[in-house]
Order: sequence, then structure tokens, then C-alpha cells
Amino acid sequence: MRAVFPEGFLWGVATASYQIEGADFEDGKGPSIWTDFSHRPGKVNSGDNGDVACDHYHRFSEDIELMKQLGVNSYRFSISWSRVLPEGRGKINRKGSDFYNKLIDRLLEVGIQPMVTLYHWDLPLELHRKIDGWESRDMRHYFGDYSSLVFSEFGDRVKHWITLNEPYCSSHVSYLWGEHAPGKRDLKTSLTVAHNLLLSHGEAVRRFREVVKDGTIGLANVSTFVEPATDSKEDRWAARIRDQFINGWFFETPITGEYPSELFKRFNDAGVQPLIEDGDMDLISTPFDFWGVNYYTRNVIRKEESSILGSEVVQGELAKTEMGWEVYPEGLEAFLYKTFKEYGKKPIYITENGMACKDKLTDGFVEDFERVDYMKRHFSSALSALKAGVDLRGFYVWSLLDNFEWSYGYSKRFGLVYVDYEKGLKRIPKRSYYYYRDFLERD
Ligand code: NOJ
Repeated sequence: MRAVFPEGFLWGVATASYQIEGADFEDGKGPSIWTDFSHRPGKVNSGDNGDVACDHYHRFSEDIELMKQLGVNSYRFSISWSRVLPEGRGKINRKGSDFYNKLIDRLLEVGIQPMVTLYHWDLPLELHRKIDGWESRDMRHYFGDYSSLVFSEFGDRVKHWITLNEPYCSSHVSYLWGEHAPGKRDLKTSLTVAHNLLLSHGEAVRRFREVVKDGTIGLANVSTFVEPATDSKEDRWAARIRDQFINGWFFETPITGEYPSELFKRFNDAGVQPLIEDGDMDLISTPFDFWGVNYYTRNVIRKEESSILGSEVVQGELAKTEMGWEVYPEGLEAFLYKTFKEYGKKPIYITENGMACKDKLTDGFVEDFERVDYMKRHFSSALSALKAGVDLRGFYVWSLLDNFEWSYGYSKRFGLVYVDYEKGLKRIPKRSYYYYRDFLERD
């Protein structure tokens, strides 16, 4: 199947700094909001944290070797802001930037293109404490300065950049549902945070244009295919509003410079809409180059008037992953098509797709056939979108390694490579790793 994808298509794996690096207090690195959150009792399953994680900081050569053997031509990872700027601003921590220099150089040596995310949720704790983090409008300046620094350090070699990973999670999952750092529960605050994140995205794109002349930059969003529970008018309306909340808020606004109108009105009537100042929407809609689609599942929605969103998520009937997420490959094609058509006709990369399985190490091996099946079906769904005219440029499987799955800690495994947390973090490629390798090898 690989051969039918266009020449130059990027096939990769994806990770994020706090989930794999470890060395959280080493070589001058400052703590992040996740360092703080994970060390608070009751916030993360089993009290897990990212102090050591997969120890990728020390084992990156081994991990690159795994990628090389796998045969991917790209690797998406994120930079830990507080490793490069321990307090979020000020003087660069050379030991921190050296780590990324070594990582990038080695990747290029073995023919793997880096795709770098500037922010994958690990905000420097110091900055969070000083100005209230993403609740502050000033964040766009700090994020802009951090971005400029990172672009000038690595922009000579990194050609594909992502400003933010899933601003839906850094706003609503963190400030409304309270499941991610810093764990607040207030809609008005989470909408303010979303606004500040979108401003920061725009600011980073502007900085990028000043510093890097021959690269591209995009935004990676949660991409959940939303469907109504029934064909009733009420459920269809509820699904439309929910789609604006999860997807439209972060896909439509950066394109049109306007928040999705129906939901905006609802929030405005409820008095929770954030303050929008002159120039904000221009900054938010600064033209950028591509979409990152992080696709995992669908949400089935029914009307529920008592909720501010006017809806609730109902259990769908499809098979579920270990996260309890329905397996719905058809939704990927549909989502890609919709994104391409409605949100600016931009090139798209699937920046994440994968599943958590009940992986068991048996006789030194992991037979994760369910994951293989999931991958096959999502690859073919991506191909259908391509054939339907979507400008799809790449596909990154989440994830290279089992890793720290946020509030689930190490209890959920997404890796193509098993990490034996009991036995010295040994890496053991699973059946899915070999499936992907063979897929990439075959023309
Ligand atoms: C999205 C996030 O970007 C990533 O950090 C997370 O591990 C995966 N989804 C799986 O939940």
C-alpha cells in the first residue's frame, strides 16, 4: 500500500518531551507544570510522574536506532520549554539546547526529518507561577520570545514546525475538566486560556516568518469526528455545537478570524466569553502553512439542555481501545476531508494516530494484533482521503515508545515499542513495530 502514497510522503512516529524524556531535574532543566501536577497526590494514576519516564534524554541514540531500523523518514517530537529556558524566559540553558542539537543532528545523519512541536503541555512552572500561565494575555509575548529563540537555534536544520499541540487539551482538559495540569475547573477561565493559546499560536507564526525563511509551520489539533446519536433535529444540532467546541474553535478561528458563531453566541449569552481586544483576531488568523490532525476516535452526541454545551457524549457501540475510545477508521477519512474543504484547503499531516492496547509481555514478545489492525485500517482510510483529493502529506503513528500517558501515568501503552518499566526500561519492539517496518519496506 505504501507505494500508492505520493513521493516524499512523510511516514513517522510521534512523541512528546514530558512523556518520554525523563531527566526532569538534570543539566539545569527547570520544572514544568507537569512536574508539579504529577507530584501532587491523586492527580496521576498510581502517583506516576515523568521524573524518569523512558529516560529518552540519555537513550536517544538507541531510540533513533529503533526509528532507523523501523524505516520511518520523519520523527515528530516536542521541545521542553523549561529545558531550554528553565524559568520560561531569560538566558538559554546551553546543556538543554545541546540535547536537542545532538538529537536533531543524529536524526539528520540517518535520514530522518525532524518535525518539532514547540509546546506539548509542559509550561515552565516558574512562568506559570509568576504570571498565572495561560490565564495571562502576556503569555503570547513569552511564547513568542521562546519561539524566536528556538527557531534561531534549530531552524537551520528543522524545516517542519508545529506551534501548539492540541490547544483543546491545554485549555479545556486542563482548566475545565481539571484532568491535566494545572487542574482547574472553570469554563470562563478555560475559554480565556484557549484565547491566549490561539494568540500565542499567531505570535509564534509571525516570529517564524522573521527567523526561518525556508520552512513550514502549522498547528496540531484534537480531531474528533463528531456524530449525532440519532437523526433527530435536536441531536444533530447538539452534535454541531459540540463539533464547534472540540474542533471548530481551534480549526475555524485561525482561518476565519472569528469564533464559531453559534457556540460563541451561547457563551456570550452565558457571560463566559473571554475579552477580545483590538487586533486579537488578526493575530489569531495569521496565515500558517499546514494542519496537524491528531485523530483517534469519534464522539457520539445527544442533546442535553442542562449542559452549557447543550449536549452530552453517549457511549457508542463500536469496539473500544484501552482508553475506552471507539475504533472508527472511517472517521479519519471524513475528518480529513472536512478539514481540507472547510478549513483553508491547506496541506495536512496526520500528526498522531494510534491506540492503547492491553499489551502483555509473553516469552519476551508482545503480540499486539489489535494495534496492527488499527494501523492497517487507519492507513487505508488516510489513503481514501488522499484519493478524494485531500492534500495529505504525512502520517505519524503515536507513539514510538510506551510512555507517560498524562493522568493515566504508565498504565496505558501506546507504543510500537514496549518499555519494560520493571526491567531497566528495556525497549522491546512489538508485533506492530514489525508490521509498520514491513509496510514501509514494501513498495
Ligand atoms: C494526544 C496527545 O497529544 C498525546 O500527548 C497523548 O499521549 C495521545 N493523544 C494519546 O492520548
